[in-house]
Amino acid sequence: MPAPRTYSFTRYLSAKKSVDDRALNRHVWGSLLHALPLNGLDIPLRVLEVGAGTGAMFERMLDWSLLKFADYTALDLHEENIACARQALPGWAIRRGYACQANPDGSLVFSGDGLRVLLHLEAIDLHEFIARQAGAGWDLLVAQAFLDLLDIPAILPPLLSLCRPGGLFYFTINFDGLTLLEPAIDPAFDALIQDLYHRTMDERMVGGVPSGDSRLGRHLFSYLQAAGAHIMDAGASDWVVFPVLGGYPQDEAYFLHFIIHTIHQALDGNQELDAPRFERWIAARHVQIERSELVYIAHQLDFLGRVAGG
Ligand SMILES: C[S@@+](CC[C@H](N)C(=O)[O-])C[C@H]1O[C@@H](n2cnc3c(N)ncnc32)[C@H](O)[C@@H]1O
Repeated sequence: MPAPRTYSFTRYLSAKKSVDDRALNRHVWGSLLHALPLNGLDIPLRVLEVGAGTGAMFERMLDWSLLKFADYTALDLHEENIACARQALPGWAIRRGYACQANPDGSLVFSGDGLRVLLHLEAIDLHEFIARQAGAGWDLLVAQAFLDLLDIPAILPPLLSLCRPGGLFYFTINFDGLTLLEPAIDPAFDALIQDLYHRTMDERMVGGVPSGDSRLGRHLFSYLQAAGAHIMDAGASDWVVFPVLGGYPQDEAYFLHFIIHTIHQALDGNQELDAPRFERWIAARHVQIERSELVYIAHQLDFLGRVAGG
């Protein structure tokens, strides 16, 4: 696949899904299944997903039979992502053999084969949502590939307070300081780019507040403990993207081009890089994808835990 001329974040999220499917730590997933309260016929499991993008985790939780009877709220900052989820999920459900009905308030009901799940989608900033929903008491709080974009020491206590006492949290794909691209182009220059790229994550500011951590995975152990949460399981969920029989599966070539494009944007104009050399490096990485040569590994961690009380 040639390098795209323009990039779409929603297509990136959709291309990321098969990469996440492979990456998610199955031991931690199994512990989540084990820890979930049985959702019987009378009381639906109340799930909140923050930074939900276009709804990939919601689909997965149905596909992998984690949810049978649930009220699921999925929020994301960007209206475009929520609109994409609202538009695509009914067709996705029908392809899976479920019925999907829209309620007058815009929520969607998925049913069939012993399943009944109500989905509320909302475009809203997490901070605003927390201020509005304090004490709401969800059974399960989910965040995937999201927490490493936030000021976690500050937001973790109010975020966890969205759970009911003793409620569960499932925080997955938390980046943890390793981006590997093979084959090497120039090992010293490759390492410099990795360092500078990670630094852009650490120096990210949103609304004047530091928001990002390139080693969030390892730091979550102490941040969660400091917030009074109990970690029940944790494990690696590395992205490992590689060519199979001369090509990348599904839309993963697009996923890789998007990652290189992200590095390009993050370091464009960086004073510590020789600009023409960096442009050649970026072009060479795109060519490696076109030739199905590039292997990409990103180290990440998944967590399952319980908030205090209950
Ligand atoms: C890397 S994406 C992951 C999306 C989804 N969880 C997934 O794995 O496919 C991070 C998401 O967080 C959302 N986001 C970023 N800042 C946010 C905020 N302050 N409140 C709510 N969502 C936010 C972005 O719009 C984006 O969709």
